[in-house]
Amino acid sequence: MQQKLEALRAEIESAMQKTETGRALYEVKVKFQTGLKGVMSGMKDLPKEDRPAFGKIVNEFKQNMEEKFAARETVVKKMEMDKKYAAERIDITMPGKAYKAGALHPITLVKNQLIDIFAGMGFKVFEGPEIETDYYNFTALNTPKDHPARDMQDTFYLADNLLLRTQTSAGQIRVMEKETPPIKILSPGRVFRSDDDATHSPMFHQMEGLVVDKGITLCDLQGMLAEFARKMFTSSTKVRLRPSYFPFTEPSVEVDLSCSECGGKGCRLCKGTGWIEVLGAGMVNRHVLENCGVDPDEYTGFAFGMGIERIAMLKYGINNIKTLFENDTRFLTQFEE
Ligand code: DAH
Repeated sequence: MQQKLEALRAEIESAMQKTETGRALYEVKVKFQTGLKGVMSGMKDLPKEDRPAFGKIVNEFKQNMEEKFAARETVVKKMEMDKKYAAERIDITMPGKAYKAGALHPITLVKNQLIDIFAGMGFKVFEGPEIETDYYNFTALNTPKDHPARDMQDTFYLADNLLLRTQTSAGQIRVMEKETPPIKILSPGRVFRSDDDATHSPMFHQMEGLVVDKGITLCDLQGMLAEFARKMFTSSTKVRLRPSYFPFTEPSVEVDLSCSECGGKGCRLCKGTGWIEVLGAGMVNRHVLENCGVDPDEYTGFAFGMGIERIAMLKYGINNIKTLFENDTRFLTQFEE
């Protein structure tokens, strides 16, 4: 019996020394208990008078082993913690992971600036639908079917009478139909044309403006555009109106701003002219007012429309419109002021 106990002790102690985890130590403990039970089962074969003495030996053996298990448990626990700490070690000298906040898209920035500038002059924002009827996009704007001016804008038709709006000017009609003058609205939005090169994209953004009231003249338009130019570009930016043609305005003008790059002396950006064309405008054609139920003998108005991409490209010195739509965040995050 004594030998059996000694053999068990040797086996368990050596197994115990090899354990490195609480789990392994637990398994050795189970093995020990099973082994001890085996030895104890031999007790019934001992002569009766030897049993108490042997019982005492077994008890001492058990207590001794339990102490050893407890000691090993402390060691194993420390091993486990050391391992865990090593695995979780943080090198505080490593560069951190930067979580970058997004930035507003340059188109959004310019759109917001435009709204700020014109809201300061009393304009309200109206947003029309991107899918328009032929009537709002063309006919009501004094551009009936077969009008040659329709060729100026290559249109995406969805159905006979439905199209992707080619200009935010469609919003002018929607507003004038509903509201009675005085009207002072700004209408930003996406427009679509079958057009695609370094300065044109099939989808781009426009900002439309419309003012209708009694006694509105071309001078009001010019004064308001001068204010816009100074606020959007520099305080010395000048405005020039050139005669032009749009079916929905009469007279119509193209609006140039003095080149912000060279200040008007002439450079590559303005192709040596000192001026940069930025928008179309004019006095609302009386037919358009009539189409909307506004009496052209009582009211006059002016309208203007500009490409937001064009303003953004001029303002930020971007030379390819496509970079605005490639979603490269290294490019897009450069503009927030
Ligand atoms: N809708 C014109 C275009 O897309 C721009 C324009 C010109 C708008 C004259 C106007 C305007 O309101 O009066 O080319």
